[in-house]
Amino acid sequence: MNDRISYLPRVGAPVLMEKTDVNSHPMRKVTQEVAFDRSSWDSARAAKVSDLFDSMASTWSERDFNSRVVPVTDCLERGGVSHGSLGVELGSGTGAYSDMLSELFLSLLCVDISQEMLINSRANRGLRVRGDGAQLPLSDSSVDGLFLINTLLFPDEVERILSPSGYVAWISTNGDQTPIYLSPEEVATALGDSFSGVSSEAGGGTWSVFRRK
Ligand SMILES: C[S@@+](CC[C@H](N)C(=O)[O-])C[C@H]1O[C@@H](n2cnc3c(N)ncnc32)[C@H](O)[C@@H]1O
Repeated sequence: MNDRISYLPRVGAPVLMEKTDVNSHPMRKVTQEVAFDRSSWDSARAAKVSDLFDSMASTWSERDFNSRVVPVTDCLERGGVSHGSLGVELGSGTGAYSDMLSELFLSLLCVDISQEMLINSRANRGLRVRGDGAQLPLSDSSVDGLFLINTLLFPDEVERILSPSGYVAWISTNGDQTPIYLSPEEVATALGDSFSGVSSEAGGGTWSVFRRK
């Protein structure tokens, strides 16, 4: 529990998932390190992560998104996410959530470090851009809503690009079984004291939305 987070009741029954040793997944270590130490992300690591996801891109859309979409939908319904001009979906992958997120914004940028993920996108909406979340090609204070769904958190860039009233949504579609995972409390700590948020669980996933206080 964290006093900067309001916890809403869970929605829907938990999804029974086979417990794997997800803590030893290589991306779990990367997730933890980059959220708390920006210097741990360098060009070699970026290339390695990009290659890893390039190698999975052609089959990424074969995953079951029916259950994975539940926490995303709940976040949109109860997370207080507002409509705005510019939205960014970082780590958009093959665009499973891009069409629904695009409903919130006049323009949605779907940014991913993996070119193959972008090429294999099934989304109809959103402008696809290859980019690194550690160094986004966006002006300061320009983004109304930033969605991080099963991707990495770079707190300095979140702080830089969000408009004064902007928000960042952190969604783990398989909850703590998601390889790229931080708890809501860890996200609050990584973002710092100037942010407060709301969080919940839905189906097999977890979500939180943070804004500046
Ligand atoms: C686990 S996949 C999730 C994809 C999609 N959000 C989903 O849930 O289906 C993580 C995605 O984040 C992207 N990614 C990882 N590091 C990134 C970075 N530094 N900048 C931008 N995208 C990144 C990967 O290429 C990959 O597409």
